[in-house]
Amino acid sequence: MTPSASSDATANEEQERFWNDVAGPLWVAAEEEIELHAGPFGKAALAVAAPAVGEMVLDVGCGCGSTTVALAAAVGAGGGVLGVDLSAVMLARAEERVAASGVSHVRLRRADAQVVDLEPGSFDLVFSRFGVMFFADPIGAFANLRRALRPGGRMVFACWQAPSANPWMAVVNRGAARIFSLEPPPPDGPGPFGLCDPDRIDAILRAAAFSSIEISSHEERLQLGLGESVEEWVHQRLLMGLARSAYLDAGPDRQREVRAALAEELVPYQLDVDAPTSGLMMDAAAWIVAARL
Ligand SMILES: C[S@@+](CC[C@H](N)C(=O)[O-])C[C@H]1O[C@@H](n2cnc3c(N)ncnc32)[C@H](O)[C@@H]1O
Repeated sequence: MTPSASSDATANEEQERFWNDVAGPLWVAAEEEIELHAGPFGKAALAVAAPAVGEMVLDVGCGCGSTTVALAAAVGAGGGVLGVDLSAVMLARAEERVAASGVSHVRLRRADAQVVDLEPGSFDLVFSRFGVMFFADPIGAFANLRRALRPGGRMVFACWQAPSANPWMAVVNRGAARIFSLEPPPPDGPGPFGLCDPDRIDAILRAAAFSSIEISSHEERLQLGLGESVEEWVHQRLLMGLARSAYLDAGPDRQREVRAALAEELVPYQLDVDAPTSGLMMDAAAWIVAARL
């Protein structure tokens, strides 16, 4: 394995800052919880991608490397996987994970997938689990990824559907926005819901010269927050969500009130209201997108 090199040029400075300074450390610390919500969708995307022995795969926004290792296992030592990500801290965790898995056909590179200089025609598969919704210029980014595919190559990724289909993210975000009087983020801007509109996904991928675009819905009921109180779970979601700054600025007393108010909104999702650490059962939905060169 080649350790992650220093960052190439980025066209997404705000995202680079966010995934290095804010979200990255939280994601590394909350790895197990993240696998609970992202894992089933990654498996669904992997099933559609069907990586074959000997193939070369690009894992876009590979984060802490969970899918990178799964892809490496699927393609075997005769193939290879390159994971690219903006976040040094998440790549460091990915390096540990790859080393622990004992595979030698994985490379990790700190780079912006929107502009990263990849050898044209060098990959059979471009894959991503929730790593492609953050581009400032989605058409330019997907065109850049398409150039890296060999003729006949394919791209498969998972991205979140609209907030209304994802109460596991939306309930806390919506409640916090109301409490702190925050403006909702612009629709279709870079962020977790940046590709939630399937018509827009289709238009972006066509404009980036992909064809045979297929978008299917994958839904899950997620059991979250098992073994922690609902307020602790709310705290984690607030730290990762759009109200992060307002929450941190609020001070301990107000923070406690906010957590209690939001925990109240989550009562309908609690598995056992009499057992505070029984966890929450919440719906989640993603698009599994497949396209060809
Ligand atoms: C929601 S996380 C998903 C991480 C990982 N794929 C997973 O499923 O656990 C999004 C990831 O995309 C990365 N990312 C966002 N914009 C990127 C870009 N322009 N180029 C490369 N990576 C990017 C972030 O650093 C982060 O690791």
